[in-house]
Amino acid sequence: MAKNQVEFNGNGNVSFGENGSNGYFSEQENKYTYESVVATAEFLKKLVPFSPVVGIICGSGMGAYWNKGSLADSLQDKIVIPYEDIPNFPRSTVKGHAGALVFGYLSNVPVVCMKGRFHYYEGYPLWKCAMPVRVMKLLGANHLIATNAAGGLNPNFRVGDVMLVKDHINLMGFAGNNPLQGPNDERFGPRFPPMNQAYDKDLIKEAKNIAKEVGLGDNIHEGVYTCLGGPNFETVAELNMLKMLGADTVGMSTVHEVITAIHCNMTVLAFSLITNECITDYECRDNPNHEEVIDVGKMRENVLGKFVQRIVEHIAKTKNE
Ligand code: HPA
Repeated sequence: MAKNQVEFNGNGNVSFGENGSNGYFSEQENKYTYESVVATAEFLKKLVPFSPVVGIICGSGMGAYWNKGSLADSLQDKIVIPYEDIPNFPRSTVKGHAGALVFGYLSNVPVVCMKGRFHYYEGYPLWKCAMPVRVMKLLGANHLIATNAAGGLNPNFRVGDVMLVKDHINLMGFAGNNPLQGPNDERFGPRFPPMNQAYDKDLIKEAKNIAKEVGLGDNIHEGVYTCLGGPNFETVAELNMLKMLGADTVGMSTVHEVITAIHCNMTVLAFSLITNECITDYECRDNPNHEEVIDVGKMRENVLGKFVQRIVEHIAKTKNE
């Protein structure tokens, strides 16, 4: 039988191709070998004379759409490497979304920022969306800060508030879609990684203190994030269902990146910038829209930049082994 070929025999069983992997689910299998991710990291190591301690994913609320003033833009000794110049990397397809790895120093701590991320709605499988996290890890980053723009489901949340993610609901995982699907390579991590302590409790605690210090005051919360595939915003019935499930924010990213980071033994801090209040009432005539996502991100740029900077300082002081 040819490689990857699937055959159904008379009694309903499926036999697999000679490579030992399940060809039937081939689209969901990770096509990046360990060696190909190492090759990407080695390519980057030749261009960057330092090893990042922290990887930061800058999403729609954190400067993925603009340059001046964004966190990635403010790094010292910056080295910008567009995604299209990086072997094996996906390309950003979101109009206006910057696509570059930005290396540099934040308060003298070496970091790497993903300026713009990859989404399932772009047509990329989850393992492809999350591959840069493995590259960050191979470059030396043992810590991930994942940021996202999200709709607020919790009625106490207001536009411009920040929610530290204490847990997530992997809804796409419920439907059998997971970035770790397919044969597992133990060099990245274990077959069955636990997720009950995905979000580092010490970092959440410190981030709450830092939030007060940088002026987020009462605008800081802690809660549960959930990710849908997008690209459409949710229906009223869907949002009410998510609320009942216990989600406080909803977005289109982060969960698969965090799963991949935990799999390769990184510590994770994630937060949502609330860019809109989710509409859970049929009488409401407003529509969520992407422009407000970007506008709120810009409005919060300074305070969130300081917030992340202080968290990075804390990680370097306390967790850098
Ligand atoms: N839903 C999904 N993703 C989002 C939202 C939302 O309301 N706001 C920002 N990203």
